[in-house]
Amino acid sequence: MKIAVLPGDGIGPEIVAQAVKVLEALRGDGIKIELEYAHLGGAGYDAAGDPFPPATEKLALAADAVLLGAVGGYQYDALPRPLRPEQGLLRIRKGLGLFANLRPALVYPELVNASSLKPELVSGLDIMILRELTGDIYFGQPRGIRTLDNGERQGFDTMHYSESEIRRVAHVGFQIALKRNKRMCSVDKANVLDTSMFWREIVTDVAKEYPQVELSHMYVDNAAMQLVRAPKQFDVILTGNIFGDILSDEASMLTGSIGMLPSASLDANNKGLYEPCHGSAPDIAGKDIANPLATILSVAMMMRYTFAREDIAQRIEAAVRKVLQQGLRTGDIYEAGMQKIGTVAMGDAVVKSL
Ligand code: IPM
Ligand code: MG
Repeated sequence: MKIAVLPGDGIGPEIVAQAVKVLEALRGDGIKIELEYAHLGGAGYDAAGDPFPPATEKLALAADAVLLGAVGGYQYDALPRPLRPEQGLLRIRKGLGLFANLRPALVYPELVNASSLKPELVSGLDIMILRELTGDIYFGQPRGIRTLDNGERQGFDTMHYSESEIRRVAHVGFQIALKRNKRMCSVDKANVLDTSMFWREIVTDVAKEYPQVELSHMYVDNAAMQLVRAPKQFDVILTGNIFGDILSDEASMLTGSIGMLPSASLDANNKGLYEPCHGSAPDIAGKDIANPLATILSVAMMMRYTFAREDIAQRIEAAVRKVLQQGLRTGDIYEAGMQKIGTVAMGDAVVKSL
């Protein structure tokens, strides 16, 4: 297993270090794992003047999988857009063709009370959000800030989805649904956007190849509401890049903390980039308080999707469960009666239970 490790910025290096401990423990069990490090985001800018340096690109292209922490930091906010950390993330996603972003929102029984919703609404919750990751308004051209004929300035972006982009991600969605409860809800804004009308048409067409899967459609505003009203109605949610960005943050809070949400971004051959859904949290960086579980759970997803080692994936997930059962909590998921521990201690606890 050739893994490129990109710690990134903010809490990235701390949480990735815990996930690397898990990988090293697996290596100790005889699994052949090679780790190579490179810079991404602000760290790339600091090291090489580029948020996605050529050396990082080369390493990422050569690896089987990429483990990423997070990117971004206040000190980079004033840089011109092409040098901003987020561009590193967008370029690596695009450069590796990682169009299918899987964000599972799973509520662990131990964390039912950490959710902002009533326990009965979230207990047993298990949603898979599939977000298209390399198209939509994120990458559409033209975009920019222009001056109109009347002299007024205007910001603009372009939303579009081509048929092949919709088809390939829809197939991934149906395939995932087949392995789960066979229900998929495609989320769009077809009552307003032509892009969404087309999205709905193509998803409906792809559905003909999957008669076993029950397909429904929902407008994104309604989906945002349903996620907090009755989240258990969902099995797989398929949606575009920008809607998926927003809905996955919302869904993360159902699980108790965004610090618990892993993600996988896959290409057509299951090569993948694995990262927590949360950001670089510069305000808590270096304080040993960040939750490393989303990153550790991202390693589990890596084992499942890129390396087809469901056994190892389940072993890591079971280790995380056990640590939660022991009452160990980082601050973001802490509740009275539990034992509050830091980032490093949480990583150690997972390795021990592994
Ligand atoms: C995410 C993040 C990124 C996105 C940012 C950091 C560019 O919010 O992975 O959800 O918008 O995709
Ligand atoms: Mg986001």
